[in-house]
Amino acid sequence: MKNQGLFVTLFLVLAALLAFVFFRASRTEIHRPWPLAPGEAERLGLSEPVAASLALASLAPSSHNTQPWKVRVLSEREVLVLLDEQRLLPAVDPHRREALVSIGAFLENLVRGAGLQGLAAIVEVTVEDPTDTQVARVRFEPKAEPGDPKTLEAILARDTFRGNLPPTELPEETVRALAGTAPSRWTFFPSQSPEGTWIGKATVEANRVQASRDDAMEELARWIRFSPAAARQHRDGLTTSGMGLPAPVRAFMALFFSEKSVSGKSFREAGVKRAAEQALACAGFFVLGSPDGSPPSAVQAGRDLEAFWLEAAARGVAVHPMSQFLEESPWKEEAASRLKIAGTVQMILRVGLAPAPHRPVSPRRPLERFVETETR
Ligand SMILES: Cc1cc2nc3c(=O)[nH]c(=O)nc-3n(C[C@H](O)[C@H](O)[C@H](O)COP(=O)(O)O)c2cc1C
Repeated sequence: MKNQGLFVTLFLVLAALLAFVFFRASRTEIHRPWPLAPGEAERLGLSEPVAASLALASLAPSSHNTQPWKVRVLSEREVLVLLDEQRLLPAVDPHRREALVSIGAFLENLVRGAGLQGLAAIVEVTVEDPTDTQVARVRFEPKAEPGDPKTLEAILARDTFRGNLPPTELPEETVRALAGTAPSRWTFFPSQSPEGTWIGKATVEANRVQASRDDAMEELARWIRFSPAAARQHRDGLTTSGMGLPAPVRAFMALFFSEKSVSGKSFREAGVKRAAEQALACAGFFVLGSPDGSPPSAVQAGRDLEAFWLEAAARGVAVHPMSQFLEESPWKEEAASRLKIAGTVQMILRVGLAPAPHRPVSPRRPLERFVETETR
């Protein structure tokens, strides 16, 4: 009898310990630079409005959440926005196109964020060659009209949605408003249209090809943050919460996965299977084109992407870029002619009505890790 009591107690203690370990391994921590910490702007030698604008800018999307931006402060009113060469993805983005698109999204948020702080941010795009690290020069000037508070809501709410989306058609008015954010550059293909079906199939095939490339998988592995501790340390990359994985899977990955697991057969196969489910579960695909494949066009595409995404966030439309299609042959070469897009295809977005409100969880670095000032 006494022994039985001891066993029950031991069992309960063990179960509680296990539950605690799983809970800690699966928890979602939010690491985002908004709102600014007290004294943060001053510590960096920045004015409060400029620091706040940069923090909002950094909530922009970027491939693998590399956050490939660096900001050099020239004066109280002027900064350079640079490409951080430590944060490139040579295996899947050898020409730095996606990195420049990501910086374009950062610039769009910077302009809108500055507007909320009573500043006009005047952007001069300076990048000409893909190897240039200086992308833009930004000047801040006082502005009379106040920014729209809805812009702040949209910047804070925008995120990548990787779950299944209902195949429900998007209302015509929503499609028009989203395409209207850059009228001649966005085209919508419903999932049942011939082009939509082709995009879905090509996306799965491109995922399969990419999953078979060791260099792409090793690169991906370097940007996956398997545990809450890794996310807290790096504050970048792809977290298991950001991937939308359920808590038991997050706990399992935190406890048992490493960079090596990503190169394993089962991880590669699971990724392709998931992409196949995602490609089918949506209302359709928005495709962004630009006149050419030059670096300034990639930056403009990033600005278009973010303008679109903020409008989508405000309208409850979930957005998921699926880029393997634009990273692998033969699809990247075929995309423009198959979809009758004049010029270069810059982004393919899976979209649908967001099933439920959710909060963004993808981490961002604090300002001090991407802003260089004279004082530091
Ligand atoms: C140029 C570009 C390409 C992207 N490609 C993909 C992609 O192929 N698959 C994906 O799941 N997310 C993709 N994303 C989304 C990023 O992974 C996401 O923005 C980043 O992880 C930060 O998360 P957030 O958008 O929720 O803030 C892409 C984003 C950008 C800007």
